[in-house]
Amino acid sequence: MLTESEKLKALTLLGIELNQTHDLDILLEQVLTRARRFANADAGSIYIRSGNQLHFSYTQNNTLCQRLSKGEKLIYSTFKIPIDKYSIAGYVALTGRSLNIADVYKIDPASPYQFNRQFDITSEYKTRSVLTIPLKTSNNSILGILQVINAQDEHKNIVSFSKNDEQVMHHFAGVASVALERAQMTRSIFLRMVKIAELRDPKETGPHVNRVAGYSVEIYEQWARNRGIDEKTIHKNKDILRMAAMLHDVGKVAISDLILKKPGPLDSNEFEDMKKHTILGAGLFADAESDFDKAAREVALNHHERWDGLGYPGHINVITGKPLPGYEVKNGITRGKKKEEIPIYGRIVAIADVYDALSTERVYKKAWDEPKILSTMENKSGKHFDPELMEIFFSKIDILKAIQKRYTENNDTEDYRSARTKTRIFR
Ligand code: C2E
Ligand code: SIN
Ligand code: SIN
Ligand code: SIN
Ligand code: FE
Ligand code: FE
Repeated sequence: MLTESEKLKALTLLGIELNQTHDLDILLEQVLTRARRFANADAGSIYIRSGNQLHFSYTQNNTLCQRLSKGEKLIYSTFKIPIDKYSIAGYVALTGRSLNIADVYKIDPASPYQFNRQFDITSEYKTRSVLTIPLKTSNNSILGILQVINAQDEHKNIVSFSKNDEQVMHHFAGVASVALERAQMTRSIFLRMVKIAELRDPKETGPHVNRVAGYSVEIYEQWARNRGIDEKTIHKNKDILRMAAMLHDVGKVAISDLILKKPGPLDSNEFEDMKKHTILGAGLFADAESDFDKAAREVALNHHERWDGLGYPGHINVITGKPLPGYEVKNGITRGKKKEEIPIYGRIVAIADVYDALSTERVYKKAWDEPKILSTMENKSGKHFDPELMEIFFSKIDILKAIQKRYTENNDTEDYRSARTKTRIFR
């Protein structure tokens, strides 16, 4: 439990901390973790507004998490609730004012809102105290709501949220809203950028890049844990990798529609053209030096390299497209990168990209069935893919499938937030 002076100190640093996170999903996770720590709450949720509905976007629950075996995540289905006076969350979003409820099972029957017991029935959890705070944008419109659930005293007894908790959370929500608003903007600029870049088909692009990014982050996290990399570094790299992975095919912006949308197989000239999307993508980040730019360059350039050295584009100069000295095999042809010569982010996104390409329909192919996908992936271990990463891939397959479900094709990608409403995962 944080002491008052620790809280004050953490609050003053909060803005700086949250503004270092750029990816929306990673930020939601961070905001909720912090909010629960400030209020010493067992659980919490964030709902994001879309039109006149609230989308249940992210949740954490310590008690439910502890019922799972280590490393396992509870897969949670999500829902939308209307912004009206009948639910707690809806009421707070409607009025823009917070609610501090000591016991949701003892709400005055005369009050307009009531607790929806279905939440508890479905999850076999007992909700009691709930503090619900509006998240407001800079021009005072409702971005969503933040809910902390079941305050605990030092003996882990469930207690009410105090007046002081209310004040702290109010300040917290202000800081979090600024960061969330910025991350939403970054996300929508990003998705517009990939939408322009890839196939110019608004139906496929958003979900594909979100899935590839989701799988990549999941694999990276375990890889980094296995190496004992510290949590802070892992967190920062997940943020960077998620965005870089979303842009893995950004170089396709320069590939002709005739090739990109060709319904049949490519001939060898067409495929040579297609291969250039790696170099072209990396070129977009060639002279930028932030950690994000480096990661984006690494991913765009290396996601088609193969563990056995038979991938592309190999050891080349990104600007000239020519082989690097010492790597020319013959007449301007370069040797592919092999094993750990391929940067880690490239090795990870390679797996995520192929898994997604096999699992979903493309203009040139149908979606495969699951046994065929998994046996193909397994066969590629040690040839196309890093075998250590493939072990992680198979150990996380249920989580990867949940991510796939969350970002399915028929979601309305015009509103990226709706792509998040299929399933949610507890941490
Ligand atoms: P993509 O659709 O995102 O596919 C990514 C990678 O998934 C492919 O990289 C390949 O390694 C794997 N993959 C996709 N479909 C299959 C498949 O049916 N069987 C197997 N074994 N692997 C598959 P690759 O081959 O380097 O292709 C890069 C990009 O080139 C593809 O990205 C796609 O945009 C395009 N492309 C590849 N083949 C064709 C084709 O036959 N027709 C058209 N129109 N485009 C193609
Ligand atoms: C994310 O949403 O942050 C990545 C996928 C996940 O593990 O939930
Ligand atoms: C990294 O963590 O980005 C580099 C480690 C590696 O390439 O194995
Ligand atoms: C992609 O999104 O990577 C390509 C999808 C397609 O070829 O239809
Ligand atoms: Fe690619
Ligand atoms: Fe791709």
